[in-house]
Formats: sequence, C-alpha cells, structure tokens
Amino acid sequence: MMSLLHVDSSANLEGSHSKALAREFVAAWSEVNPGEQVIYRDLGASPVPPIDQHFIAGLYLPPETRTPEQAAAFVVSDQLINELIEADTYVFAVPMYNFTVPAQFKAYIDQIVRFGRTVSFGASGIEGLLGGKRAVIISSRGGDYSKGGPREAFDFHEPYLRKLLAMIGVTDVSYVPVSQNPMHDDETTRGRKLDEARAALVDVLRTWSDHGVTVA
Ligand SMILES: Cc1cc2nc3c(=O)[nH]c(=O)nc-3n(C[C@H](O)[C@H](O)[C@H](O)COP(=O)(O)O)c2cc1C
Repeated sequence: MMSLLHVDSSANLEGSHSKALAREFVAAWSEVNPGEQVIYRDLGASPVPPIDQHFIAGLYLPPETRTPEQAAAFVVSDQLINELIEADTYVFAVPMYNFTVPAQFKAYIDQIVRFGRTVSFGASGIEGLLGGKRAVIISSRGGDYSKGGPREAFDFHEPYLRKLLAMIGVTDVSYVPVSQNPMHDDETTRGRKLDEARAALVDVLRTWSDHGVTVA
C-alpha cells in the first residue's frame, strides 16, 4: 500500500503554477500507483490556524493534563500530523513569497513540528520521527535563484524547507523550482521553463521508481 499526501499552499486560487504542476505530478503518480490513496490539503483555500497561547502552554504537557482550551488547540495539529504519518510520499506545492514560504505554509509548519510526535530528543540531540518518507517540493517564483547566480543568497525557501523537513526526519527531498515572470519573460520562455519543471518532475517519479514506485 502506498499513500501520498498532496499539500497546496498558494494563496492564488485561480491560475497558480505550483498548484497546476502539483496536480499534474499527482495525476502521474496515481497513474503508476492505481488505486492508492491520495490525501489532499489546500492551505490557500482552507488555511490552518496559526498556533496560539493554548498551543504553546500545552506543548510540553502530557495530553491528559491539558486544559480543555489546550486540548482543543491540538486537534488540527494532531490531524495534520496523522496525515504525515499515514502517507509515505509527500508533494508540497509551495510558492516563494518574499524570499520564503507563504504564511499559509508557515502556519502549517508550526502545527506539524511537535516534540513527541514528529521530533524527539535522542542520544545525539534532536531526532526526526518521520524517517523513511520521501518528498517533492514544487516551488513557483518570479525570479531566478539558481545556485551560483547573483540572487542565490536571497533564497530562504529551499534551504529553510530542507532543514525543516530534515529536522522531522524527511531527508529524501527533491526540490523543483519553476520561475514564471510575465514582466521579464515572454510566453515562449515561460513555456520552456514550465516544460523544464515538468521534465524534472518526471525525473523525480523515475527516481522514486528505484525505491518501489512503478513508472510506466
Ligand atoms: C506576496 C507575494 C510575494 C512574492 N515574493 C516573491 C519573491 O520574493 N521572489 C520571487 O521570485 N517571486 C515572488 N513572488 C512571485 C510568486 O512567487 C510567483 O507569482 C509564483 O508563481 C506564485 O506561485 P503560484 O503561481 O503557485 O501562486 C511573490 C508573489 C506574491 C503574491
């Protein structure tokens, strides 16, 4: 049994590039994994709440000692974490906003990073509890933050997400950026960049096939 968790996070509900590419990727995954489960979350259409004082106050308490307000603060978090545990494959569609992730995705991160559930203190420090999972991040942006390029230092998206996912144990991470900028690039260039991202996503699916996912 395979199970895929698909999370969109663009605030743009019409014409989002990250959502369109993620949809295509998940459709391709489903074709080669017929009948397998896909769990879907759209953080743009249905944002999860930011964590609050009750969440923080209850964070290090045993669940049975939490006040009703504290217990209520963990309902969404538990549900999101259960989805991460249930799935073995993650597709995160995360645009770049102001050099990093959208607030909608940051709120999701704050809900899912939890000691005792996704991270623990081990003998050698912090240990992620979601080992054995694999993820692809599809990141739309307007600019070009290529490695070695003049804007690489402005990229607080890829390094942040890689470190964050590693902290909860997810180290098999593919990162596919796609630059779409109607101010700087004509339609042909934008189309080429979309096709390059599609090709990179086909490669991701191929790589996964070496680890048990069949590719037609
Ligand atoms: C609030 C906001 C902030 C943005 N900040 C950046 C940025 O820092 N760097 C960049 O290259 N593009 C930036 N963009 C452009 C988006 O990343 C780009 O439009 C992308 O296609 C959005 O993803 P989507 O098409 O999936 O909605 C920003 C867009 C918005 C709406």
